[in-house]
Amino acid sequence: MKVIYTKNYEELSKKACELVVEQINEKKNSVLGLATGSTPLGLYEELIKEHEKGLDFSEIVTYNLDEYIGLSKDNDQSYNYFMNEHLFKHVNINMNNINIPSGTNEPEEEIVDYENKLRKIGGVDLQILGLGSNGHIAFNEPSEELNAKTSIVNLTESTIKANSRFFEKESDVPTKAISMGMGTIFTAKKIIILISGKNKEEATEYLLNSNKISTNWPVSLLQLHQDTTVIIDESSVEVK
Ligand code: GLP
Repeated sequence: MKVIYTKNYEELSKKACELVVEQINEKKNSVLGLATGSTPLGLYEELIKEHEKGLDFSEIVTYNLDEYIGLSKDNDQSYNYFMNEHLFKHVNINMNNINIPSGTNEPEEEIVDYENKLRKIGGVDLQILGLGSNGHIAFNEPSEELNAKTSIVNLTESTIKANSRFFEKESDVPTKAISMGMGTIFTAKKIIILISGKNKEEATEYLLNSNKISTNWPVSLLQLHQDTTVIIDESSVEVK
């Protein structure tokens, strides 16, 4: 695992952008795995700036990690809406190349379809991840047992609380989501995890300490992936 420390959020976003641009320059039809949450927002802003300078998204294919069950594409809290607002509508991506789980299709069918689509293309080339303060990646919540494949997941109380900042009230946060599984995420050839924000110290400790791999901190399993880069914003995450 490669670990990059940056002095602030802006530098983290620029560094992440540099790595994504490198990937696109190497392979213009790259399959990118994308994440939501507030951490990747700076990266998406940087990518939009790169597009304005000529970066071409016309052959790029994207797969998002997760979506809340029950929220339609045009609900402003859905991850479909988020991705469109913060990235897709600003670049020349082919709308047919965008893949995000649907929050309104029959979930049991949706998880099988999404997993099959992803496996069929051989997984993503470069996966961007954020980090939940309880150690979740995508919506793989801490547990004795984790899902390998795309699954329906129950959100933990701490995630519902943490994500309620985007909703009007806590009771509006959906309690279930569709999320790529740990195995699905691990099919990515390269992974970049972005760490910034409050209360991420303990989860980061589990990611960086090789004696601390635990399904109760799903992020720690990334230590087993063959090509993961960790980018840490030192201004908000104090690493011991
Ligand atoms: C959500 C997403 C995760 C994301 C996490 C962290 O729960 N499902 O993919 O990593 O939020 O969010 P933030 O970057 O806002 O701290």
